[in-house]
Amino acid sequence: MTIQLPPTGTIEVAPSILSADFANLGRDVAMVEPAVNMLHIDVMDGHFVPNITIGPLVVKALRPHSKLFFDVHLMISDAPRYAPEYVKAGADGITFHLEAVADPAGFVADMRKLGVSVGVTIKPGTPVELLRAVVADVDMVLLMAVEPGFGGQKFMPESIDRCRAIKAMLRPDQRLEVDGGIYPGSTGPSIIAAGADTLVAGNAIFASPDPLAAIKLLSEGK
Ligand code: DX5
Ligand code: ZN
Repeated sequence: MTIQLPPTGTIEVAPSILSADFANLGRDVAMVEPAVNMLHIDVMDGHFVPNITIGPLVVKALRPHSKLFFDVHLMISDAPRYAPEYVKAGADGITFHLEAVADPAGFVADMRKLGVSVGVTIKPGTPVELLRAVVADVDMVLLMAVEPGFGGQKFMPESIDRCRAIKAMLRPDQRLEVDGGIYPGSTGPSIIAAGADTLVAGNAIFASPDPLAAIKLLSEGK
């Protein structure tokens, strides 16, 4: 059963397991499970980005252990080829990079047929205006606030204005997620003020001495 993206009107925190302890992935997911509705899963292919991370096998292994919305962020060159495998493995939402998909509308339609939520994302250097081609068809836009590829990078301050510009393109029922360098007490509250309602956080949660406290602060906009 596919899990629905939480309806808008709430601030959702999506812990990024890229910063979890991969030798104890089940334990780390179980730790955040009671505190959130979404889990962010970063898929990298060593081609679209210079890093290789999580295959469908890992998603499949986690699936029976979690009721969270699996928010799969595909940082790969051939999303149409591999997305269905992630859906089969248990993804609830597929977010693709506009830069990597030649026929975005066709890709969205294919994902809809598979019954998952769909997000579109752009790298920091991609003009937000390019989103207009597909924005009406998606459930969520993901704004990258760092160059995709690695966790623990510094939030790019220009992301605030980009977030405002994207927010102005969205209907009230569409989520605006931001990914990269999000922390409580600084970038978290600033990006919410700019219109974001879905915060991806890797290091802020998994490298924190108190991950649940970090989640609470982020979700309260503090
Ligand atoms: C980067 C990934 C992010 C990453 C965020 O390419 O898309 O999801 O895990 O990590 P932090 O929150 O540590 O910047
Ligand atoms: Zn991500």
